[in-house]
Amino acid sequence: MDDRFSLRREVDRGPRFAAAVQSGLGAVRKTIPPQYFYDELGSSLFGAICNLPEYYLTRSEEEILIKRGDEIAAALGPVDRLVELGSGSARKTRHLLDRLAPGGLEYVPIDVDVALLQQVGRDLLHEYRKLSVAAAVCDFRRPSRVLRDIVEKGSRTAVLFLGSTIGNLDRGETVAMLRDLRSVLAAGDPLLVGADLRKSKAILEPAYNDILGVTAAFNLNLLQRINRELGGHFDLRAFAHRAFYDEEAGRIEMHLVSLRDQSVRIDDLATAIDFHEGETIHTENSWKYGDDDIEAMGRESGFDLVRRWTDAAGWFGEFLLVAQ
Ligand code: SAH
Ligand code: TRP
Repeated sequence: MDDRFSLRREVDRGPRFAAAVQSGLGAVRKTIPPQYFYDELGSSLFGAICNLPEYYLTRSEEEILIKRGDEIAAALGPVDRLVELGSGSARKTRHLLDRLAPGGLEYVPIDVDVALLQQVGRDLLHEYRKLSVAAAVCDFRRPSRVLRDIVEKGSRTAVLFLGSTIGNLDRGETVAMLRDLRSVLAAGDPLLVGADLRKSKAILEPAYNDILGVTAAFNLNLLQRINRELGGHFDLRAFAHRAFYDEEAGRIEMHLVSLRDQSVRIDDLATAIDFHEGETIHTENSWKYGDDDIEAMGRESGFDLVRRWTDAAGWFGEFLLVAQ
């Protein structure tokens, strides 16, 4: 089985967390980049978010992949290789693997959580006998760094970017990422993007403010992670989760709000960060899109939008783009 699994690491990422925290919390408007949510606890909490009644995104996307899976697989395949950006638990990917993998396929999950990549890779090899897995720890904003060595000339590659993870990037970042991805693909290679669609605040806001507080824990875990890994002294009771929909911009913003004036030491950075009451750390955006937005970002980066599927409620969209 081992010869069917490989793992590449783009770079070791230890010192990068320290550098990201230093610059993000040192800025006038404080931020922490969202890829740092996903340590072992963060990925577990994210798995729980996907099962929350308020978090409709996973169920809506899964509905599309189950009901329209045959059509989607036919539109993607046949392929030699299935790349997935931000693969996570690959829970929904299985609906496509069921249809694409029987003939043999190389699956290339790309994620920042190395433990999850190893676990998911092993599980999939048990489930799919003709699959091989070439996992990569890599920032998906520059996928060519690992794909350059994996994608062979003359082969056909399909790419998945599910879960509305595209919405966690700003437009400029999305276009830069898609251009980088396009540079390693061949004309005609398909890219399937799952994106959450614009809808009322009454549905969107509860999805990021669940009553059990799992999303709050997911957000606060960033501070816990600084305490654990960088010798931080954050008092987690002195910060609160806040998520709201900015209707005009079309995005959910997630913040951590300081509940009092405070100064927090971070030993490994030999620094202290000052917060005043009500000041926030901006931890994530989740953009909500319409068809035109995905089409425009695709076109700017060398992809044509060819098809779109939605769930019955029309809440979530699966977009098929093809490399020009
Ligand atoms: N595709 C899954 C998981 C989505 S959560 C789903 O639809 O449910 C986002 C995933 O992307 C997480 O597994 C996280 O570890 C990964 N991730 C976040 N930012 C990343 C980055 N910059 N580079 C690579 N992986 C990243
Ligand atoms: N990309 C998904 C979204 O924006 C998943 C996600 C990322 C998420 N960070 C989150 C969900 C924080 C809830 C809370 O919805």
